[in-house]
Amino acid sequence: MTKAGGAVRTIIVTGGVGFIGSALVRALVAGTEATVVNVDALTYAANLESLGEARRSARHVFERIDVRDRPALERIFRDYEPDAVVHLAAETHVDRSIDAPDAFVRTNVQGTLSLLQAACAYWTRADAERRKAFRLLHVSTDEVYGDLGPDEPPIVEGARYAPSSPYSASKAAADHLVRAWRRTYGLPALIAVCCNNYGPCQYPEKLIPLMILNALDGKPLPVYGDGRNVRDWLYVEDQAQALRVMLERGEPGRTYHVAAGDPRTNIDVVRAICALLDEMKPRAGGSYAELIRFVRDRPGHDRRYALDDTRLRTELGWRPAEPFESGLRKTVTWYLDHPDWVAGVRDAEYRRWIARQYSEAEARE
Ligand code: TYD
Repeated sequence: MTKAGGAVRTIIVTGGVGFIGSALVRALVAGTEATVVNVDALTYAANLESLGEARRSARHVFERIDVRDRPALERIFRDYEPDAVVHLAAETHVDRSIDAPDAFVRTNVQGTLSLLQAACAYWTRADAERRKAFRLLHVSTDEVYGDLGPDEPPIVEGARYAPSSPYSASKAAADHLVRAWRRTYGLPALIAVCCNNYGPCQYPEKLIPLMILNALDGKPLPVYGDGRNVRDWLYVEDQAQALRVMLERGEPGRTYHVAAGDPRTNIDVVRAICALLDEMKPRAGGSYAELIRFVRDRPGHDRRYALDDTRLRTELGWRPAEPFESGLRKTVTWYLDHPDWVAGVRDAEYRRWIARQYSEAEARE
């Protein structure tokens, strides 16, 4: 793996035990010569099992650190002298942010600030060659733009931010900090703004794994509102490749959208999961689709997200490789084949969250 200034030798990945982070760490360890320093606080959504083979590699180092802990981050920069940082550590679940927003501001805003300060102090003191080659890639979300009407064109980089939820507001704040550090201090930072991801190892509070596991348990499949909200779903390994491409060839100061370009309504996604399960693990009582329940809508629920990712495709030559149908099949298969991983994450905290979030969701049908 090369980029301006030579080979990338050491990469810090924050949140490298989370869903996208672990996919990136697996891809970097398997597909490059880089050493990966995995910085993760191991909060509820992290599972070290998600790292697979990478966990045992000599080129993978794990550091249990909360990204708000600036002295600990400064030590990491001193000890490992990284060539690049990918910042993924974040609280990410919109429903949790509505229920308890404080952690989102603490991790996503304060955490990004601490990381920028530690990275900037390191980068400022580095020798000329390292200063030139260093990159900080911050990972953000399409949700910072708020929602789109049904006929609006996909959003291009530079559009106005209009976040709707405490989660997306905290990510928007983090993005603003990254741009400020670029402009004011010259830090060679770039931003990836990404659509919804799905795939193996996603914590089952998110739509796709929640529906798979509820269905297998014969529990209701809670679809918010009318189920017509539109999301663009990208397979997580394609996301990891997009981040690699940005690390290798992205231009500091630039923002790149990452999209699948294949939007779907939530109800269509849930029906597709049910159809796959009907085929792979037929249910005695009939189709899994009979478990679908339309429940009270999420407050402030964004109707539609759509990103224009022409820049990433034309300037950096990235393309998603996995169509939704095969990616969803792989994902359902993965959850069926990994009961131990599932049991490991469905702990007391998980059960508390599910009871709290869904006991009050009044069935409308
Ligand atoms: P989610 O996976 O939480 O991602 P995001 O809100 O960041 O896009 O939700 C995806 C969509 O699925 C979103 O429109 C909300 C909806 N949804 C449900 O209908 N039911 C659920 O139980 C969950 C968790 C989400």
